[in-house]
Amino acid sequence: MAKQKIRFECTNCGNESPKWLGVCPSCNEWHTYEERVEEKKESKKHKVDISSDGQSEAVKLSDVEIEDNDRRKTGLQELDRVLGGGLVNGSFVLLGGDPGIGKSTLMLQLAKSRPNWKILYVAGEESPSQIKQRASRIGLKGDNLLVYPNTNIDQIIRQARKHKPDLLVVDSIQTSYTSNLTSLPGSIQQVRECSAMLQQLSKKEQITTLMIGHVTKDGEIAGPKMLEHMVDTVLHFEGDQGQLHRILRGVKNRFGPAQEVGVFEMKSDGLNEVLNPSELFMSGTDSSISGNCITCIMEGSRPILIEVQALVTPSNYSTPQRTANGFDQRRLSLLIAVLEKRGGVKFTGQDVYLNIAGGLKISDPAADLAVIAALESSIKESPAKGRTIFMGEVGLGGEIRRIPYADQRIREAGKMGIEYAILPKGKITQKTDVEMKSASYITQIRSGLS
Ligand code: TYD
Ligand code: MG
Repeated sequence: MAKQKIRFECTNCGNESPKWLGVCPSCNEWHTYEERVEEKKESKKHKVDISSDGQSEAVKLSDVEIEDNDRRKTGLQELDRVLGGGLVNGSFVLLGGDPGIGKSTLMLQLAKSRPNWKILYVAGEESPSQIKQRASRIGLKGDNLLVYPNTNIDQIIRQARKHKPDLLVVDSIQTSYTSNLTSLPGSIQQVRECSAMLQQLSKKEQITTLMIGHVTKDGEIAGPKMLEHMVDTVLHFEGDQGQLHRILRGVKNRFGPAQEVGVFEMKSDGLNEVLNPSELFMSGTDSSISGNCITCIMEGSRPILIEVQALVTPSNYSTPQRTANGFDQRRLSLLIAVLEKRGGVKFTGQDVYLNIAGGLKISDPAADLAVIAALESSIKESPAKGRTIFMGEVGLGGEIRRIPYADQRIREAGKMGIEYAILPKGKITQKTDVEMKSASYITQIRSGLS
């Protein structure tokens, strides 16, 4: 009898270790290690092979012919942008996101936008009738969509080989399983094995495959993190359930730029593309209220105008509150400290709340200056002057540092009717109506407040 081997595996990223670890050295998550007994059946897990054709030989790089990475546009501009211009034939794409964010809806919308593509939709989570209900809501008739309600990966692969679809969608990888393994669907071994089989299918048969994966903080379910190295492209669908907008972010892309974003809005008729996100995030902004300041962040190659809102009020607590929504809390504390020390503004005994309007989560350091301006505007109750934009990274010395893509940001500000801009020194070649004032120290934001 084969000897049973005990190993420990991180349920978040799949990292293995011969002993239990409290914190995973690979993904830094805590308490994610679980014992795994390698069973006899699973011992062939590294020999995933869905076909038995021929043997491969090493070849000289000079003899390798560049594959024709034909791209086909999905017709959804925002999705195409994130993919780098469309879906590459035979590519293997992972679409991750929280449950209920709109991943399945996006797939149906793709089917609607490309009525001449044959799409095989493997439904592991919903019944065909549920899918039909949703499809009729978004106005998809579905002559081109083959729904296959099955979770057995061997049968899924058989169907894909039979129909040879233009696109295979597996919704979701967590519900798929192979009978080669005894573990439950959704377990790390099953997810890995099933993905490896789909990968082979997509490469050998040149079937463009899109697999959907849930991201959960719950350690029980294998997140798509460990799958990222297996696929060509990783897309994350993000957003707040309470908000309408959804951000599709390219995390990895072998065939195009990563970090590109697409913006959608979830409406009653499905996901609508947002071609001008600044308009979405600027609607309803009011810069005549103290504490509201506009900035321009870059998401991929895209400038987006957003409003930073700060509220500074005397505290009723012994320890004043510091709350940030959509912005890094530690960065907020740092900027408060810089404004206290370098700008002479005192926050002792004051609660500070910071919010990024529209529920966007931002990480561009160029927003620092707008945070500083919003904090000062709120504490002094002096609103921003007219339509002013603040951009610049703030250093610990209170200095304002340069930001990349200043030209694109100013162009976007001009398009959105911004009148004044306070930004770091640097050459701007873009011609706009925006009156620019360069600043090198944080106290200079005061010229932008009334
Ligand atoms: P869904 O695509 O099922 O999410 P996922 O596949 O990522 O789990 O999205 C479901 C949510 O979207 C659900 O809460 C309802 C909402 N929705 C709308 O608001 N409008 C619509 O037209 C559709 C189809 C869904
Ligand atoms: Mg779904």
